[in-house]
Amino acid sequence: MARISAGVGCSHVPAIGAAIDGGKVSDAYWAPLFKGFEHSKRWIAEEAPDVVILVYNDHATAFSLEMIPTFALGTAERFPPADEGWGPRPVPVVEGAPDLAWHIAQSLILDEFDITIVNRMDVDHGLTVPMSLMFGQPSAWPVKVIPLAVNVVQYPPPTGHRCFALGRALARAVASFDEDLNVQIWGTGGMSHQLQGPRAGLINRDYDVAFLDALTADPLSLTQRPHLDYIRYAGSEGVELVMWLVMLGALGEGARELYRFYHVPASNTAVGHIILRAGDKVSPGTS
Ligand code: DHB
Ligand code: FE
Repeated sequence: MARISAGVGCSHVPAIGAAIDGGKVSDAYWAPLFKGFEHSKRWIAEEAPDVVILVYNDHATAFSLEMIPTFALGTAERFPPADEGWGPRPVPVVEGAPDLAWHIAQSLILDEFDITIVNRMDVDHGLTVPMSLMFGQPSAWPVKVIPLAVNVVQYPPPTGHRCFALGRALARAVASFDEDLNVQIWGTGGMSHQLQGPRAGLINRDYDVAFLDALTADPLSLTQRPHLDYIRYAGSEGVELVMWLVMLGALGEGARELYRFYHVPASNTAVGHIILRAGDKVSPGTS
């Protein structure tokens, strides 16, 4: 039986990818950030997950305003790094896990979670930057990845409660897959940042730390948090944090914190990172 063993929360910033690809990880500006992921790299090498369900957002790269799936599950064999304007990042092609991905699609839809199925998709910094932070620069990624893209770019994005419920449905889907696989779920994006308008540059450390605390101390309170709360306190792009609630839902009850790291600044963004051990129970019910 496949099982979700752990969750990883991790911000994404295009400049982090550029720093890695441009050989700047030891620069004074970047070194403290990458130091915060050293433990995580050792941890994930020991955990050796077979598959990561990587919840992330596309930034009008694979999708655009012409087509806006709320939740899109990648079922392809492979997902090439996208060209976001400066050519594709020099990172390995992301290998998919089509058998598990199709099983998840079927399980979700029969569980009345009607996600979009994507058979071809390039993946942008939202997916590749967390991969680089967790795995460094290998010649091939040491894990298969099922991308799960969430619309947090064009209003209306899904509620935190819906994201959490999707996580619970994902846990049921994985638990009903026959192969013995160690599966992780990652929630990416955030933390506080605003890239535009008069409040551009907004960072809110207190809000971010309280969010990290609540992941284990009071997870259900997060499911009730409205979008306006994120926008007001974590900036317009801070709403990316709802994607972490998919991870949280998938971890079942009683997730435990194993590690966290918080760093400001990275470009215009507060970088938050957490590792959570899954709880013992796969939650029943549909919410
Ligand atoms: C930045 C952060 C993001 O999350 C993003 O998608 C684009 C840019 C930034 O901090 O520059
Ligand atoms: Fe982003």
